[in-house]
Amino acid sequence: MGRLLTDAAARLAAGGLVAFPTETVYGLGADAENTQALARIYAAKGRPANHPVIVHVAPEADLSYWAGAIPAEARALIQAFWPGPLTLILPRAAHIPAAVSGGQDSVGLRCPSHPVAQALLREFARLKPNGQGGVAAPSANKFGQVSPTHAAHVRAEFPELGPDQLLVLEGGPSQVGIESTIVDVSRIAQGVGPVLLRPGHISAAQIGEVLGVAPARPDEAAPQVSGSLKAHYAPRTPLRVLPLDQLLDAAGRDTSAPSAGRTAAVVFSLDARRAIPGVDWLECASDPGRYARDLYALLRRLDGQGYDRILMEQPPRAAAWQAVNDRIGRAAAAFATDGA
Ligand code: TXA
Ligand code: MG
Repeated sequence: MGRLLTDAAARLAAGGLVAFPTETVYGLGADAENTQALARIYAAKGRPANHPVIVHVAPEADLSYWAGAIPAEARALIQAFWPGPLTLILPRAAHIPAAVSGGQDSVGLRCPSHPVAQALLREFARLKPNGQGGVAAPSANKFGQVSPTHAAHVRAEFPELGPDQLLVLEGGPSQVGIESTIVDVSRIAQGVGPVLLRPGHISAAQIGEVLGVAPARPDEAAPQVSGSLKAHYAPRTPLRVLPLDQLLDAAGRDTSAPSAGRTAAVVFSLDARRAIPGVDWLECASDPGRYARDLYALLRRLDGQGYDRILMEQPPRAAAWQAVNDRIGRAAAAFATDGA
């Protein structure tokens, strides 16, 4: 691993792309201070240039190098949750390229806990003359698609990039499985926030506990988050999320004709399954953490199995399921036909 990490860091320093594991999902990394390298990320993903990317830093990074101000709220959240699946939006330091934040005057910072990510970040920072190096990395998937939670997902996502154009570091399956929680603390000085921009494994309640006040919901002036587009994180197979009774109804109704195709029905208990031709039943985890961990791998697997549609049982509406409901809601929204 040592040699591979050294190579990976050298590639980043030379402006190249390196995909690496984190505890949330795999990231597609480039030198955060190299605008040409940043352009390579956008090109590889097919992502609009006005969408900001997160800068990943090692635990010992000097945050004042990246952020123009670090409010007490940010320090408290860092103390509680870093390294880990939390991204903070802070005022961007003047010398950090605007390209990293899609032209906005903020910067998203995250210190991941995955040991391979940390080793890469440390090695990369060591190569910088000033010892400060950050790796800009969106999730390593094409724009709008499901995030990768295995190295093999990343390779499958970028078949057009050869090994000399993209190095993929192996780090096992991502344990959180969905993208980091994002909290905007960039406008505290103006009296706005903290604002929860994207729910995740670290819950709104946990953030509220640390801050003594619940994070606000995004307002119109909140920084733009591409993951908050209504249709995002979508598989290729049409997906619907339905309460169990409606799911059973939908599974039964449309498959009576022999041409109706194949359905994957994902339910919380196989006890609910019915013998319906063309319908395969799968059981999902009843715990939100395990559900999140397995979600994207499940969607990719079903995508690869040629189903004509995926029906998923609606998870509970409880707060513990907020992040999961957010992701599958957006995945299903990509296929909503009612304009909603
Ligand atoms: O867990 C994660 O956050 C993963 C891993 C690789 O760290 N990364 C990830 O990146 O999900 P991405 O680009 O797929 O989503 C990052 C989100 C985007 O929705 C982006 O708009 C937002 O973070 N973001 C980044 N910098 C921002 C900024 N300065 N202001 C507002 N939003 C920002
Ligand atoms: Mg993404």
